[in-house]
Amino acid sequence: MSPTRDLTRVLTGITTSGTPHLGNYVGAVRPSVQASHRAGMQSFYFLADYHALIKTGDPARVQRSTLEIAATWLAAGLDPDKVLFYRQSDIPEIPELTWFLTCVCGKGLLNRAHAYKASVDKNTATGAEPDDGVTAGLFMYPVLMAADIILFNAHRVPVGRDQIQHIEMARDMAASFNHLYGEHFTLPEVVIDEQVATLPGLDGRKMSKSYDNTIPLFAPREQLRKLVMGLLTDSRAPGEPKDTEGSALFQIYQAFASAEETEAMRQAYASGIAWGEAKERLFERLDAEIAPMRATYEHFMAHPEEVEAILKKGATKARAIATPFLHTLRDSVGLRNLAVQTAQSTAKADKVALPTFKQYREKDGLFYFKLADGQGQLMVQSTGFDQPKVCGAAIARVQAEGSASLAALGQTLQPGIRAEAMDAALAALRESKA
Ligand code: TRP
Repeated sequence: MSPTRDLTRVLTGITTSGTPHLGNYVGAVRPSVQASHRAGMQSFYFLADYHALIKTGDPARVQRSTLEIAATWLAAGLDPDKVLFYRQSDIPEIPELTWFLTCVCGKGLLNRAHAYKASVDKNTATGAEPDDGVTAGLFMYPVLMAADIILFNAHRVPVGRDQIQHIEMARDMAASFNHLYGEHFTLPEVVIDEQVATLPGLDGRKMSKSYDNTIPLFAPREQLRKLVMGLLTDSRAPGEPKDTEGSALFQIYQAFASAEETEAMRQAYASGIAWGEAKERLFERLDAEIAPMRATYEHFMAHPEEVEAILKKGATKARAIATPFLHTLRDSVGLRNLAVQTAQSTAKADKVALPTFKQYREKDGLFYFKLADGQGQLMVQSTGFDQPKVCGAAIARVQAEGSASLAALGQTLQPGIRAEAMDAALAALRESKA
């Protein structure tokens, strides 16, 4: 199976470090399974177990979570014959590509990653060493994630808001690699589904493992009832009208019920339904949707060998794409059979590594230029010029004078200029022409 040109490739991964809860189901599993049935798409869903190692050092938990999450997706209706459903650690091309990307990724880019910065800020606040307790794995997290995505040249990556920066970084790395070694990678786009609800948890805050307020998706029926009965509500007595606004119970109900059912619940709130009864209704509604899936889930949990076989089959399909692609990538970076000489290649590699000036026109109709280094990182970029001639003159001036031109051009340039790098790059350009 090779990536078919006219299909949109949609890819997303789930870190295997926890037990799926109602929030994961409503926010990720259900919309993804629905999307996988749409025409014109090729879907890639994978279990990010290498990523799990960054979050936990508990091998039993990684194994159990991988099984639970795989069983959840299958129970929720993912058809492994229709999509590519695989486990990250079954694809050795992913860590190999991770290394290639590590070598084109600026360390400064990773310094700016939110998750890493949050750890550093926490340490700074408590007076600890900035990198205290930070593994290189946490630091490298965005590179591994970029490899996951661009190995399959995914067009679209549906994720939660907290992952947007990671997709931007993946684009950066893909662009740097392309610039240096040729156009191998598609630049992925992030997809944030505004329709998808964020579920509140038992205490009314966002349902999240880190708040310990989750309702496991496949808790047995009796346990599910108990958990629902423990949902936080206000102290209004039976008969008193109740607010749907800000009610966790109502929000969870709405995420599972039809529009009519939701409307009926709204009326019941207005006419003073007792909390105990509202919880009973929520529980029955949840169980009605979950019970059929729960049976499948329990089947897979009792037959892990079936899940293992499904994932192995998925890995074979994924590697049918990844293995030949990685051969091409290895060749492009110069990891080659020594007996096969490709004469023009050294010259090409030298050439593409040079900095480049680009003049271009944007949608706003204005003319711009930029100078990027051999890795594709910007050194200077202009604001928009009305006239292409004026833009050309500014380029000529930068070429001739280097950073000495900056003062005069000041306002027509965007912030973030790397003056020193610019002079070095211009020198390299002159040298290559000489
Ligand atoms: N980092 C993602 C998360 O925690 C999981 C993930 C790993 C992922 N690799 C990915 C998501 C690739 C999308 C694409 O949610």
